Amino acid sequence: MKTIWPIYSLLLTAINAQSLCDKASFVDRAGWGGREPTSITNLTRKPFSFYVIHHSYDPPNCYDDTSCIERVKQIQDLHQTTFGWADVGYHFLVGENGKVYEGRGWNRQAAHSPGWNDDAFGICIMGDFRTAPPNEKALNAVRSWIDCGIKHGHVKEDYYIITHRQSQRPGYTECPGNGTMDVVNKWPRYCSFQNPGTPLDANETLLSLANNFCRKEVPSPSSASTYFITPVILFFLLLIYSL
Ligand SMILES: *[C@@H]1O[C@H](CO)[C@@H](O)[C@H](O)[C@H]1NC(C)=O
Ligand SMILES: *[C@@H]1O[C@H](CO)[C@@H](O)[C@H](O)[C@H]1NC(C)=O
Ligand SMILES: *[C@@H]1O[C@H](CO)[C@@H](O)[C@H](O)[C@H]1NC(C)=O
Repeated sequence: MKTIWPIYSLLLTAINAQSLCDKASFVDRAGWGGREPTSITNLTRKPFSFYVIHHSYDPPNCYDDTSCIERVKQIQDLHQTTFGWADVGYHFLVGENGKVYEGRGWNRQAAHSPGWNDDAFGICIMGDFRTAPPNEKALNAVRSWIDCGIKHGHVKEDYYIITHRQSQRPGYTECPGNGTMDVVNKWPRYCSFQNPGTPLDANETLLSLANNFCRKEVPSPSSASTYFITPVILFFLLLIYSL
């Protein structure tokens, strides 16, 4: 039995090496010239269970580094100066140049979706995606970044992806646009939970409702990998017995 484990861990290493994480092109706050937050609340309760996907709608789409940095700054201005928030509301912003821009990052409390900010990382794809989906560069960047969150332990392995419109009462917003929705709702960890918009029971929060719903709808990845790994282990066991 002991001989299995080196082989098994080699296999796992091979799987991890294919991680999308390293493919993401990341721009930190210094890289885009972000202003300092007016206050910082560190996250204390991680890993999180959810990603919430947004679009910016306005400012519009950007395809090159110069205009994407301009958009990130515009969004920070809107949130910080116009709305009076501590900082840009999202954890991360993604451009159609394929880059991921640091908003509040993995370690700070954000303000992207009321009711969700204690258990969800908010990612905003910059542009108007009411009809067309974000381009492949942006979608690949989002997926790589989602993967990064798991690899670095910020997000649970059995996390769920929802969109901004699902997080709030029905009809509250069309964010992240039908174009984004039609792509994201086919991703493996997508959960179709919709905030009912009705008063909650005293023992419930949106997060407890959503967690219960999604746990039933979206299968746990550990059971999925067991289906894959079990035949592999059986194969090696048979091989060893036959030697
Ligand atoms: C938040 O975390 C940073 C480092 O990650 C630390 O320097 C800072 O003191 C923390 N702030 C509070 C209020 O705990
Ligand atoms: C988005 O799709 C919904 C149906 O899923 C539809 O009711 C709505 O009109 C669409 N919005 C736009 C802007 O096309
Ligand atoms: C809250 O209590 C109600 C009964 O009053 C129960 O049906 C529901 O499942 C409970 N919800 C949670 C999240 O425990």
